[in-house]
Amino acid sequence: FVHNVSLVKLVTLSLYQLYLLKSVNNFLMTGPKAYLIYSSSVAAGAQSGIEECKYQFAWDRWNCPERALQLSSHGGLRSANRETAFVHAISSAGVMYTLTRNCSLGDFDNCGCDDSRNGQLGGQGWLWGGCSDNVGFGEAISKQFVDALETGQDARAAMNLHNNEAGRKAVKGTMKRTCKCHGVSGSCTTQTCWLQLPEFREVGAHLKEKYHAALKVDLLQGAGNSAAGRGAIADTFRSISTRELVHLEDSPDYCLENKTLGLLGTEGRECLRRGRALGRWERRSCRRLCGDCGLAVEERRAETVSSCNCKFHWCCAVRCEQCRRRVTKYFCSRAERPRGGAAHKPGRKP
Ligand SMILES: *[C@@H]1O[C@H](CO)[C@@H](O)[C@H](O)[C@H]1NC(C)=O
Ligand SMILES: *[C@@H]1O[C@H](CO)[C@@H](O)[C@H](O)[C@H]1NC(C)=O
Repeated sequence: FVHNVSLVKLVTLSLYQLYLLKSVNNFLMTGPKAYLIYSSSVAAGAQSGIEECKYQFAWDRWNCPERALQLSSHGGLRSANRETAFVHAISSAGVMYTLTRNCSLGDFDNCGCDDSRNGQLGGQGWLWGGCSDNVGFGEAISKQFVDALETGQDARAAMNLHNNEAGRKAVKGTMKRTCKCHGVSGSCTTQTCWLQLPEFREVGAHLKEKYHAALKVDLLQGAGNSAAGRGAIADTFRSISTRELVHLEDSPDYCLENKTLGLLGTEGRECLRRGRALGRWERRSCRRLCGDCGLAVEERRAETVSSCNCKFHWCCAVRCEQCRRRVTKYFCSRAERPRGGAAHKPGRKP
């Protein structure tokens, strides 16, 4: 089985997944055989975390590039900034989420609904009842897999473990209470309620907020080399809520290309201006990616051809017209702006 996983999947797996699988395999050799049944959920969960990262950061200077997913401690190039914190949290959340949902779908023989509180009073006018998603299960198993990747005892390892936990807390904290009314003809005199996982998007959005509020811990120098140092690390992290993301280093300048760090910079990136229903964050993307990085916004027009005005003819054919639509896209470019060309002048911070 291990060989199967290796041969079939290795080709398509992201770096982080590879890394996870490696830990899965290590785990299989030492840990209980039972954990084998979770490995595909773990890999799928890590992948969904990465996809969510790309979605949440699509219009940010740092856009969750593959290079960022190399969390290995062996590389030596391990960063410990705000973005590293997010990657750990969202991956850990993805693994927990997938395990929990798969459990609810009946994928595992040894787990089912969490009905441990059923029958108890939950709040005014409602009792716990029904089938709550078993986050306790997802939490325990994902912890075994994801936290096992941190073998060090230094500040970086402590940071990663903290952010892994923050990811799991985000899944728990965004769960939704769903209720059903009881009583004479639906009068709702009592309700029974259970907890359901939210859409994973909601977990991603929650963690993005935590990313913006991440706390910096000053701990890099020398800590971890001695028992006292390790004690200081433990004390420091214990004093910070596990709901918050933490980082040790400042982020590099993501405007600029930096080959050493594997960063591409924002030149050439697409940004959004008008049209579509854009949120505030998207509407400002050209300023953030181009203008504030000293780049111009280049407008590129293109024409797309697609089928339209399709009519059904009796019987049985569908005939369509070809419609041409002009689309305008915006990109960050280094190209000299024409003097006085106010049209695409990059914005300034207000
Ligand atoms: C769990 O869910 C993921 C995707 O949501 C899926 O790929 C995987 O096969 C599922 N089941 C098991 C038993 O792993
Ligand atoms: C790349 O980043 C490193 C580490 O932050 C920095 O020391 C170096 O000067 C940067 N290189 C360039 C070309 O910006």
